[in-house]
Amino acid sequence: MKYRLGVLRTDPVKVVAGSASLALGKELARELQASLVDVSFEKHPGGFPDGEQYVRLLDSVEGENVVLIQSTHPDPRTIELFLLQDALAEAGARRISLVLPYFGYGRQDKKFEAGEPVSARALARRIQVQADSVYTVSIHNPDALEFFDVPAKDLSGMPAIARYLQGRTIDLVLAPDDNAQRFAREVAAKLHVDWDFLEKVRIDGFKVEIKPKAMDVRGRHVAIVDDLISTGSTIALATKMLREQGAKRIVAACVHGLFSANALIRLQACDEVIATDTLLSPATKVSVAPEIASVLK
Ligand code: R5P
Repeated sequence: MKYRLGVLRTDPVKVVAGSASLALGKELARELQASLVDVSFEKHPGGFPDGEQYVRLLDSVEGENVVLIQSTHPDPRTIELFLLQDALAEAGARRISLVLPYFGYGRQDKKFEAGEPVSARALARRIQVQADSVYTVSIHNPDALEFFDVPAKDLSGMPAIARYLQGRTIDLVLAPDDNAQRFAREVAAKLHVDWDFLEKVRIDGFKVEIKPKAMDVRGRHVAIVDDLISTGSTIALATKMLREQGAKRIVAACVHGLFSANALIRLQACDEVIATDTLLSPATKVSVAPEIASVLK
């Protein structure tokens, strides 16, 4: 059975947070003035010997409208999401509004080469089996929402980034590639500053090249914004180009801080790195809870 988006406007709600999104779930419950359901994630201290996961809802959700929140990264958190969805169905939850703060596998939103899966679709198909509506935050490609048969909506994490940057001096917002242009435009509009973009060519999962571009950045404070930072190669290259052209201060900002491998070391080239709480990292400095709450309220 499908439900319309925004169904929670008038109904009381309980929030269930998976272990990938505990802090954000807590913030969201506070914003919604809803109760946070207590969940146990271990049957035995240290978990099952074979590494399999366990969840148990410790409060009743029977007949309740539930907001379930869990990022699908890293992979075990996706299995945990499936377990939580099943636990909610078993416990008689009335409706599940699923929030996926970071939708892992969103970048494989098409078959790039013969023999590959459309990973985003594979995930969406399973996830929607036990969800009445789905919300993502700054999903890599909003077209991927079409893979869900239940109502699905993407919320922008950029207002949260702009909120943080409002407390800093920023003269220019820069998109490191084509895909990020809409993010830079959105943040720049909120900060009332200029924006620009670079052209990136991805060589493989680890290596990128950025086409040289002359920019008017001498003495300016620049924020580079992107949906996510993984290896940090994109931002490091953009930072190098900005430094060479005389930028005074460089802030790297993303919604999803994956920071794989040595990303945070590579990003020491920036003056500051910021990320939201869709994924927790040492760079998490601002919450997207207000943005999620405002669409659920
Ligand atoms: C790609 O289009 C994304 O928006 C990011 O720019 C990219 O995934 C960042 O990857 P990395 O940090 O590994 O350069």
